[in-house]
Amino acid sequence: MANETGTTMHSSVHSMWSSRLTFILAATGSAVGLGNIWKFPYITGENGGGAFVLVYLVCIALIGIPIMMAEVMLGRRGRKSPINTMRALAAAENRSSAWTMLGWLGVAAGFLILSYYSVIAGWALSYVFHTAVGTFDGQTADGVASIFQGLTDDPEKLIAWHSIFIFITMAIVAQGVKKGLERTVTYLMPILAGILVVLVVYALNNADFREGAEFLFFPDFSKISAGAVLTAMGHAFFTLSLGMGAIMIYGSYMPDNAPIGSTCIVIAVADTAVALLAGLAIFPLVFTYGLEPGQGAGLIFSTLPIAFGQMPWGSFFGTLFFLLLTLAALTSAISLIEPAVAWLVENKGLSRVRASIYSGLGIWVLGLGSVLSFNVWSDKTLSLTVKIGESVIPLVDKATFFDSIDYLTSNIMLPLGGLLMALFAGYSMSIASTKQELGLKDNAYNIWRVLVRYVTPILVLIVFLHAIGILD
Ligand code: PHE
Repeated sequence: MANETGTTMHSSVHSMWSSRLTFILAATGSAVGLGNIWKFPYITGENGGGAFVLVYLVCIALIGIPIMMAEVMLGRRGRKSPINTMRALAAAENRSSAWTMLGWLGVAAGFLILSYYSVIAGWALSYVFHTAVGTFDGQTADGVASIFQGLTDDPEKLIAWHSIFIFITMAIVAQGVKKGLERTVTYLMPILAGILVVLVVYALNNADFREGAEFLFFPDFSKISAGAVLTAMGHAFFTLSLGMGAIMIYGSYMPDNAPIGSTCIVIAVADTAVALLAGLAIFPLVFTYGLEPGQGAGLIFSTLPIAFGQMPWGSFFGTLFFLLLTLAALTSAISLIEPAVAWLVENKGLSRVRASIYSGLGIWVLGLGSVLSFNVWSDKTLSLTVKIGESVIPLVDKATFFDSIDYLTSNIMLPLGGLLMALFAGYSMSIASTKQELGLKDNAYNIWRVLVRYVTPILVLIVFLHAIGILD
């Protein structure tokens, strides 16, 4: 991926970002995506607001940042695809080669996430055209909701947009993504943040801003269940792209002398700011128009267009917004597929083009399940249980295909992947190796080490055990 198009060297993994800044941009591109603007507001709405947001923020600080440092560090030390990085590091530290499984878990999670991510990105893409032709101009909240319904009810449309999005992702990954990525993240992401600010100002002047802000920031702990805490923690992993190797492989392209700690903090702060801005733009509209905050995955698609339909220059801002949202999704999508593509190139000797096509096709097929979850299969539900000893633990309880995949990846696979990375970095690697790679001052290093050895694993375990009902 750090290769330029047309170079003869196709094994992506030996080249490097041009600077620390490029790494920040790439990792921020991976982190900022649908998770911040689409998912954060809707799961916050479903889980009652303030208390959920507070738990999410605590998870970013105590779990997200230390694990991100661990993940970047593992990648930079291994300098290969996550699967081979884990194999190499386990060998170097005289540990079991079973750690390679961590790489596979990540590849699987990346495939599953991208399969539905692409469907939602397809919604955003279709809204670029809707806003451009003025579909939402002067629409009521009901009108906007029924336009959204019209999209999700139609599997053919959804498949078309999903296909276009996967195709663009494959095309970029096939070429080596550095060029497109740098430009997108350097110029376009700040504009996206700018439009979010415009929307927040719109909400401030034209909607019940206070109610929206109180919903987001006033914690009412009676509204929060063990399941909600798991969702908040899972989202901290999802939004920072942690636990599946995306940040690990980006770390593998990071220059040796770049500081890992401060870089990770910058990325986490930027990512969190975007999510909070999105929340502040959306919830005032939700309350002003009497919409349901817990309505689910369609939340931004049935609220923001109301604002675009009414504000001056709305069609212009709306088109730009959905275009940039699509681009933000794209810079995340390429990081979801890159671990698999890099592995196919390294181990199977495929060209990047073939590796991208094979992975993309597999993901496309899986995505059809999510497409159908919104229409034909909307009442077909899955339940998933695991048996541990005597007790049967429900993981997914009567959820659609889309919701099941989302639950499985965000709430189980990413936290599990992140937990294993923390354990590997904290226990299986020598102090000498981690200290050298992180390059932190003694105090900062000690804090990090306590976090990955004790705080992070214990918190993740407690949240898991509560959510499956083993702890009360
Ligand atoms: N962080 C991305 C987002 O918020 C999604 C993502 C998850 C990307 C995991 C890579 C790995 O949209």
